Amino acid sequence: MPEENNEHSWQPHLSLDVPLMDSDHQKMVSLLGEVYAACKRHQWDDAVKDAMFDLSLFTVQHFNREEDLMRQVDYPGLRFHEKAHQKLIKILDAISIRIAQDHAAAIDDQTLDYLFKWLIKHVKRSDHQLAKFIHAKSTDS
Ligand SMILES: [Fe+2]
Ligand SMILES: [Fe+2]
Repeated sequence: MPEENNEHSWQPHLSLDVPLMDSDHQKMVSLLGEVYAACKRHQWDDAVKDAMFDLSLFTVQHFNREEDLMRQVDYPGLRFHEKAHQKLIKILDAISIRIAQDHAAAIDDQTLDYLFKWLIKHVKRSDHQLAKFIHAKSTDS
């Protein structure tokens, strides 16, 4: 399993100065950390399944909140951003199905690293663009 170091935890530089988004992103990193921890303890059955369920559920809720926010501010990148969200939901669903079918082999280091990197890259690029738009719009009005 990946080491539990700063590389896999929330970093202040990931903050976007949009409290709703920042608190959700911190929570997502922490839930992903719980998946890491459950795998590390070799709790292949319920603990990993439960941690993945919590991560998937919260991710869907966060994406819905973020997409509502985009609609509220008439964000022009909504469609593109939504597609990125849908992609991660599909990946999380596929992982959950694999855990249900073949738990011990379902999650490996590469899968967890991929999820973490996806999340960080998405926050730094797509969510950062949205935050910039929100800040610009709030200084306009
Ligand atoms: Fe997003
Ligand atoms: Fe986000």
